[in-house]
Amino acid sequence: MERVAIVGAQWGDEGKGKVVNYFSGNYEWIVRFSGGANAGHTIYYKGKKYVNHLLPSIIPEGDSKAFLGAGMVIDIEQLIKELEILEADFPGVSSKIYIDLEAFLVLPYHKEEDGILEELRKNPIGTTRKGIGPAYTDKVSREGFKIYHLFDEKLLRERLEEVMYLKKNIYKERFNFTSEEIFNYLMEQKRKLEKLNVKFTSAIDMAQVFRNTSVLFEGAQGVLLDLDFGTYPFVTSGATMAHGVSSVGFSTFELDEVLGVLKAYTTRVGEGPFPTEEFSEIGEKIRKFGNEFGATTGRPRRVGWLDLPALRYAKLRSGLTKFVITKADVLNGFDEIKVCVAYDVNGEIKEIPSSSYDFFVGKPVYETLKGWPDTNHVNFLKYMAFIEEKTGIEISHISYGPKTEEMCTKNDLIKNI
Ligand code: GDP
Ligand code: IMO
Ligand code: MG
Repeated sequence: MERVAIVGAQWGDEGKGKVVNYFSGNYEWIVRFSGGANAGHTIYYKGKKYVNHLLPSIIPEGDSKAFLGAGMVIDIEQLIKELEILEADFPGVSSKIYIDLEAFLVLPYHKEEDGILEELRKNPIGTTRKGIGPAYTDKVSREGFKIYHLFDEKLLRERLEEVMYLKKNIYKERFNFTSEEIFNYLMEQKRKLEKLNVKFTSAIDMAQVFRNTSVLFEGAQGVLLDLDFGTYPFVTSGATMAHGVSSVGFSTFELDEVLGVLKAYTTRVGEGPFPTEEFSEIGEKIRKFGNEFGATTGRPRRVGWLDLPALRYAKLRSGLTKFVITKADVLNGFDEIKVCVAYDVNGEIKEIPSSSYDFFVGKPVYETLKGWPDTNHVNFLKYMAFIEEKTGIEISHISYGPKTEEMCTKNDLIKNI
């Protein structure tokens, strides 16, 4: 049975939602395995825009079902908002949503802590303030809450007493939540989820199902935002790479493909190193043409040229086997396109960053390629061939517009030229 992971090959927002949505009809299960509502995955369905923060990018009226895995941190209030939007257009869609009992909860105080930390940091990370860092921190420091806590009121009350005691002593007057308040809040959200007919299960209970069917794993963020191997500390707090599928009981060796979604240029939201960032009018033009504003926070995205050392690093770190290129249409009409082919790291020319440190000190070495009037032009083919040759990975598909159907295989594109 086919199992494919789709992950971001850059700093997020590569178009993963759209690409997952394009392929989703071929898979029985679409699985989110990490991150939380920091993600913003945009899809267009029947002419309407939907932004999935927690929901996998399924086709609302299709046959595939969606699973939210244990590696995620789930803000159930936000999940309900997303489900209510979908339910209004596609009644009954929520019954296709399954949540792992082992997944962690993002609670209201996590979002507040996220804000407090950002305000106090000398060098803010520029987080989405969705409570992601604090929720993963609590997971690691063992003060977290799992989905299963919602189903044992006695255990939930006891645990809340214990955790709230700690929080109050750590945050002092900054922490204004009570156990009772959080308990009532969680019970209300649980009732809403049950009313929507969302299913609660686990990767263990689903193991037989997943092993006998096709599964598409939808990554969140991008390789360079990974907690371990991204541009630390300017990263998210979860696993953004294909190995995150382990939280759903799979090994990366069991994946048939790991598709890396790459934008034809580079963007990043929030702070942190960005070697190919373009501060000129050209950068402004790309931001405008590409409508580069965050799907979760609305912040303008930082914009720059394609970065091959970063892509090579992503390939090696996340075991990418193919690329899907998106947003090449945004560069239509540019006379020249710059591509970073190496970094100058303190005088040493490197094609592949040795560690995430190199992203902080590397100066981009550029080559200039000819632009294209539209993506059906030979110069765009040359651009893709250049990427393939320099990264050693084939591009299988091209996305040339925001709509799900605006996508084709590379072979189809070549035939039409
Ligand atoms: P994700 O987080 O990786 O799912 O990406 P986002 O949804 O945050 O950002 C990608 C943006 O680009 C969204 O507004 C998409 O609708 C849009 N998009 C995706 N693919 C293409 C494409 O090929 N061309 C254009 N012009 N827009 C695209
Ligand atoms: P998708 O899945 C782009 C960035 C934030 C910030 C850093 C840490 O849509 O590609 P966090 O709130 O996670 O603690 O913020 O990570 N970030 C993203 N940037 N796309 C995302 O998700 C992101 N999720 C987090 O902007 O720099
Ligand atoms: Mg996004």
